[in-house]
Amino acid sequence: MKDWIIREKGFSKEHITLNGNKFICGNGYMGIRGTLEEYEKEHLPAVNLAGIYDKVGDGWREPLNAPNALYTRIRVDGRDYILPEVEASKHEQVLDYRHGIVKRSTTWKTGRGEVTVISEHFAHYTCPHIYCMQYTIQTTFHAEVEVYTGIDADVWDIHGPHYDEITLSESGECILAGAVTHEKGETVAVAEQCGVSFFNEQRVDVQEKKILHHISFISEKEKEVKIEKIAAVYTTQDVTAPEKAALEEVRNAFKKGYGACKKEQIEAWEEHWKTAEVEIEGDKEAMEALNYSLYQLQSIAPRHVESLSIGARGLSGQTYKGAVFWDTEMFMLEYFLYTQPETARTLLKYRIDTLSGAQEKARAYGHKGAFYAWESQEGGYDACTDYNVTDVFTGRPMRTYFKDKQIHISSAVVYGIMRYTNVTGDDSLLKEGGIETILECAAFYDSLLLQKAHTQVYELHDVIGPDEYHERVNNNGYTNRMAKFTFETAVKILREAEEETLQRISNAYPVEELAKRYQEDADRLYLPQPEKDGVVEQFDGYRKLEDVSVDTVRSRLLHEKEYWGGAYGVAAHTQVIKQADVVTWMVMFAEEFSQEILQKNLDYYEPRTEHGSSLSACMYALLFCKCGRPECAYPFFLKSAKADLAGGGKEWAGSVYIGGTHPAAAGGAYMTAVSGFGGVVLKDGKVTVNPKLPESWKKLRFHIRYQNKLYQITETKDSVNVECLQ
Ligand code: BGC
Repeated sequence: MKDWIIREKGFSKEHITLNGNKFICGNGYMGIRGTLEEYEKEHLPAVNLAGIYDKVGDGWREPLNAPNALYTRIRVDGRDYILPEVEASKHEQVLDYRHGIVKRSTTWKTGRGEVTVISEHFAHYTCPHIYCMQYTIQTTFHAEVEVYTGIDADVWDIHGPHYDEITLSESGECILAGAVTHEKGETVAVAEQCGVSFFNEQRVDVQEKKILHHISFISEKEKEVKIEKIAAVYTTQDVTAPEKAALEEVRNAFKKGYGACKKEQIEAWEEHWKTAEVEIEGDKEAMEALNYSLYQLQSIAPRHVESLSIGARGLSGQTYKGAVFWDTEMFMLEYFLYTQPETARTLLKYRIDTLSGAQEKARAYGHKGAFYAWESQEGGYDACTDYNVTDVFTGRPMRTYFKDKQIHISSAVVYGIMRYTNVTGDDSLLKEGGIETILECAAFYDSLLLQKAHTQVYELHDVIGPDEYHERVNNNGYTNRMAKFTFETAVKILREAEEETLQRISNAYPVEELAKRYQEDADRLYLPQPEKDGVVEQFDGYRKLEDVSVDTVRSRLLHEKEYWGGAYGVAAHTQVIKQADVVTWMVMFAEEFSQEILQKNLDYYEPRTEHGSSLSACMYALLFCKCGRPECAYPFFLKSAKADLAGGGKEWAGSVYIGGTHPAAAGGAYMTAVSGFGGVVLKDGKVTVNPKLPESWKKLRFHIRYQNKLYQITETKDSVNVECLQ
C-alpha cells in the first residue's frame, strides 16, 4: 500500500519556492500554492485563477492571483511567530494527495514555553469556487495570543500590479475583497467567513491591502483554539455580480461547516481514484510518484466549464504567462481521455472556440487558415512575445522566434481533436467546429508549402521544431510529419463527411477540390529519410553542425542562467538539442519505421539531448518501450513522474523565472505507464495490450475509458487481463 503522503520535516528557506509547487492543491478553477499562511508576496503565495488574465503596460500578460484568504499570522505575548523570520523548533509540511489536503505543523520555542500552529486547507473538489482552512493554536503556557486572519489583497505578481482598485469591506459575518483589473476592468471578489472556538476579543482591521479579523485570547495550557475559515472566489468572467455570488456561496458553505466540506472533499477524491489510480506492485517509489503526478493533473482539470484549457505550469502561478502550449494536446490529453473524457472535451473545445484567434494570427503573418498561438490565452490571443528571453549579460531582451516559427502547434490541435474523436467514439466535437478547425489548420500548412524549382516535392522552411535551441531551420522532420498528418486528416474528414456536414461546409470549402489538393500536399511533402547509418536528420544540415557532448556545451557557459538557444546560444551551432524532437516524431508514428531505425535514432539522439525541457524525458521513455527496452525507459519515466517532487528542474531561461509545476511531464509519466510499459493500444473499438513491464514491476493495474466503456486492465509478467466493467 502506498501512503499517499508527501512529507517534509524541518524548515528550509531554500525550499520555499519549490514547496509552493510541491504542496499545491487545486480544483481546476483555482490552484493554491503550497506556501505557509503567514507568507506575504515575497514568498510567492498564490490563489491562481484559471483562464483570466491581465496586462499592465509593456509587461507580459499573465493570469491573476486572487486576494489570498488563507493569510493568517500569530503574535504571542507581543511577539510575531512567523516563518521564515522566526526560527521554528519543529516544522513539518504534509500533502495528503489522495484527498488534496495540505497540512502544516510548526512549533516555536518562546522564553516561557512552546507555541504550536497546526493547519490544513484544501480547494473544494466539487465546489470550484470554495476553499477551506482550519488553523489551530496551542501553547504550553498561559499566553496573550493575537491572531490576524483574513484576506491579503497585496498579491504576488510577476508583471503586475494587476489590480487598480481594491475595495475591502465587511458584510454581516463575512469580510470581502473586491479587486478590479487594469486591462479590462474585471472584478475578482473574495469573500471569507471565519469561526473561532474561543476568543476574548474580536474585531475587523482594514489596512491598505488587507482586511483581517484581529482575534485575541488568553490561551490556556494545552488547550487548543481552533479557527475555521471558508472562502469563495468569483470573477466577472463567472457571473455579473461576483461579490454577491461569493458572499452567498461562502455563507452556504459556512453553514454546512468545515467538517462537512472536508467530508465532501474526501468522498469526492475517493470516488475519483476508484478509476483513476494506477497500481504498481513491486515498485512503491514509482507508484507514489506516478499517482502524485495524476494528483497534479487532476488538481488543474477544468471540470467546472465546457471550454477551457490548461497552462504549461498548471495553476502554480504566473510563470509561462498561464498560457496553453502544445503540452496539453501532446502530453496531458491521454490522461484525461482515458480517465474522464468530458474533461478532454473541455480542453479541445477551448481550441475550437479560439479558432478565430488562430485565424487572425495566420492573417497577421500573411498566411491562410489557422495558426494557433504558441502561448495561448483567452480568445486564442498569443501571449508569446517577440523577445521571450532576456540576455543575462547585457540585460537586453533577445529576439526569439517561438511565436513566429513554432508552426507545429496547429497540428497538435488537429491531433487532439482526432484523438478525442477516436478514443471516445463521440463525433460531437467535429460537428461543433472541429471540422472547420481541422480544415483551417490544413489551409495554414498548405499556404506555407514551398516547392523548389525543378522538383516535385514540397518543403516547410524557416520553422522551429520541438527542439527550441535551433531556430529558423528548414524541413524539421517532426513538423513536416505533423503537417502531413494534418493534410491526411483533412482529406479523411472531407471524404468521409456526412451529407449534413457537406451541406454545412460546402459554401466555405470546395470539398472535392480541397480533398484533392490536400491529398497531393500529403503525398508530396518532404520527410527526411534515414541516412546510411539509419539516423534521420532533425532538419536540413543538422548533422553538419558541431558534434560535441552536452557536457562540453555546458562547460562553455559563461553564466549558469545563460540561454542555450537563439542566435548565439551555446547549443545553437552544435548538434546538442534541448528536448526530444526526431524521437517525438518516432513515438507518434513508430509503425512507419523499422525497429532497427527506431533504436538507431534513440541511441543517436539521446546523448545529444540536454533534456532542458521537462517534456523531453517521457518521449525517450516511450520510444525505449516501443523498442522493447523497458529498463532503459525506466529512469526517464521516473524523471517525468518526479518532475514536481524532486526539484532541480530549470527555474530560469535567461533572467526570466520559469519555475512552477510540470503537468506535461505528469501527463508524460501517465502515457509511459499506460501506453509504454502497459502497452495499451486502442484501435477499431478494441483494447489490446502488449506489456513491457520493468523488471521490478510485479503487477500493473489501471482503468481506461474507451468508446463509452470502462476497462480494467491487469498485467503481470506472464498474464494479461482486460475486463470490460461497464
Ligand atoms: C519547451 C516547449 C514547451 C514549453 C512549455 C518549453 O521549454 O521547449 O516545448 O511547450 O516549455 O512547457
